[in-house]
Amino acid sequence: MSSPVDEIKQRLDIVDYINRFVPLKKAGRTYKAPCPWHAEKTPSFVVDPVKQTCRCFGACNEGGDIFFFAMKQNGWTFAEALKELAVIAGVELKPQTPEQKEKDAARDQMRAHLSAAADYFHERLFDSSDPGAAAALEYARVKRGLTDETIRRFGIGYAPAGWSALHEALTHLGIAEDDLINAGLLSKNDRGRVYDKFRNRLMIPIRDERGRVVGFGARALDPNDNPKYLNSPQTLVFDKSHLLFGLDIASKSIRDGETAVIVEGYMDAISLHQAGYSNVVAQMGTALTEAQLNLIAPKWAKRIIMALDSDAAGQNAMRRSLDVAREALAKDYAGRLAVEFRILTLPGAKDPDDLIREQPGAWGELVNQALPVADFVIEWEARTLPANASVIERESAARRLLPILLMTENDLYKRDSLQKLALKLHIPERDLLAWAAEQGRATRTAAPRPLSDAPEPPPDIFYDNPFADVPNFDSPIPPKPPLTQAPIRREAEEWERYCLRILFQQPDLIYHVNRKLREIAGESAALAQGPLAELGADDFSRTDHQALIILLGNALAQDDLDVYDYIQQHADDDLLAQIEQLLSDPWDALRPRLQFGLSEDLPIVIHQNERSNGAVNYQAEILEHALRLRIERLKRVSQEIVFMQMENGDGDQLETLEDVNAITIYARGRIEAALSKGSGRNKHGKKA
Ligand code: UTP
Ligand code: MN
Repeated sequence: MSSPVDEIKQRLDIVDYINRFVPLKKAGRTYKAPCPWHAEKTPSFVVDPVKQTCRCFGACNEGGDIFFFAMKQNGWTFAEALKELAVIAGVELKPQTPEQKEKDAARDQMRAHLSAAADYFHERLFDSSDPGAAAALEYARVKRGLTDETIRRFGIGYAPAGWSALHEALTHLGIAEDDLINAGLLSKNDRGRVYDKFRNRLMIPIRDERGRVVGFGARALDPNDNPKYLNSPQTLVFDKSHLLFGLDIASKSIRDGETAVIVEGYMDAISLHQAGYSNVVAQMGTALTEAQLNLIAPKWAKRIIMALDSDAAGQNAMRRSLDVAREALAKDYAGRLAVEFRILTLPGAKDPDDLIREQPGAWGELVNQALPVADFVIEWEARTLPANASVIERESAARRLLPILLMTENDLYKRDSLQKLALKLHIPERDLLAWAAEQGRATRTAAPRPLSDAPEPPPDIFYDNPFADVPNFDSPIPPKPPLTQAPIRREAEEWERYCLRILFQQPDLIYHVNRKLREIAGESAALAQGPLAELGADDFSRTDHQALIILLGNALAQDDLDVYDYIQQHADDDLLAQIEQLLSDPWDALRPRLQFGLSEDLPIVIHQNERSNGAVNYQAEILEHALRLRIERLKRVSQEIVFMQMENGDGDQLETLEDVNAITIYARGRIEAALSKGSGRNKHGKKA
């Protein structure tokens, strides 16, 4: 039996359905309209009646099936879309099992009890006959500066100081004691005594996004009471990690402005709402979770501003939150996040609540000045890096930052952030691109995704784009990369080390490589001066490798000194240590050859290694590996061209890029042909 989703897709025509919202015009095989989700003059929204998909090829650059459209257009969750489309399609959704029904009923009942408790606490706050309540109200009004309107709007209340006030009041209403225990309102001690969980505290009801009370955050009023905030325990309806405080009243504003501001604390959110900032929610003191994020983005918020306390704990929470964001959010064709993240830093060690009371006008400005996440983390990492950081330290900082930088859409595309990082860390942009490619590849190979009915597959070169990620249009759930990245061990880097090893052993072999490159270029000067130029720093992706090949090139270009003497005199300690390691680690020599050799290669390789001065063998080896490095280099060039094309240069510029790309790809083809002709080790009687 087919699933309800399939059934609905079979019965409903996406063209008919979309036509209810956007008048579609036939344009050849497809239908077109101005995109319903962003303002535009030329229609870039395309509906494909055969594939039953739609896509905005313009600013949104996203698309999918009828469920995708229904969710996006109506702001529905998948469950909501399923329910609504099922009605239109006349498909009956499988009725709930008796257990599910029971659980739903239990949840409803628990929420009703919590709501009754919230009403009770709220009423108590205004009970002037209770000195505790009077002090609580004074605290709320004076100490926290809350207006009565805010107190009412948030349903803030007071839990009396005794042990049984709530217990008595609610059992009096006919609610069973056990139900109140299950809802986390009453506690039971070892001796079986039941008592109110919340006593002498300011009660802040926590509601779900639909406004239903699901728990409480209870602020201590007596400074001796611990903890400062006592929260409801986890129950059938309360899971702090799946809730954002304030979302029920913030959701409209978040949708309207497509922006959500996330703060840490209850009081921060309450104060900001009182001051008129209505798009604020609180993550309640922990790192943002994926479930919390999914409540707001990308369906409502396209921009998320995280305002976290400036202390170390806050910054660490932010760091973890960003990791979560990166894992959780759907990416479009080009691997761009559909959501933009910004970080708001609070001056001093204040929290937003303190700030808003001291400088009521300052918040709006701070929100406007929130830094794109890329700028923020670059600044931050650069500040913590020692002034004379080594190549290795700088590289590892860059590798830490890259995944975060890659999250942001605009920064990436303008390549602003990569440029900034390159400048700050003194690492060539090309290296950053290569490492980003590794990280992209590691993520992608670990989580292969079917292409299924993705409309208009992007050109092949896209798949070389490190940031490209292919969305799965079958699934309404955003594809998720694995939480842990596979360790990155890149063949190309092994090849680089291997080439360097050979070249440092027999520097003259570089002429051999250059002759081969000229031979492949043939008569073409464009090839010989362009993609088939002599071996150089660009053939190496790592900064330290580039430094080594430049050093060797310089050594060869001078006549005064013996090559090795020159190297001795001109290399710093770092480089010398690297060269020494390069020449002494036998595994460095073996690894690349074992990688694509067969196991029967092993004895030959070891044998060769023992006679490691055998120039005949090394000639073949260096040729093959140097050519492979050149192929990698040309792939990097193509990647950069993709970036530049995406920056939407003018017509002439695009044409030039096209030309460069064409000759790059052509050169790659010629090298590959040369390699497969067996210019490499096949000559020497080995199997490929
Ligand atoms: P903070 O300690 O920053 O408190 O905790 P705050 O919101 O500024 O509190 P005030 O201004 O002193 O009243 C931030 C958030 O962490 C959670 C709460 O959600 C709090 O709002 N928290 C904090 C707890 O759940 N329990 C605690 O004991 C402390
Ligand atoms: Mn505070």
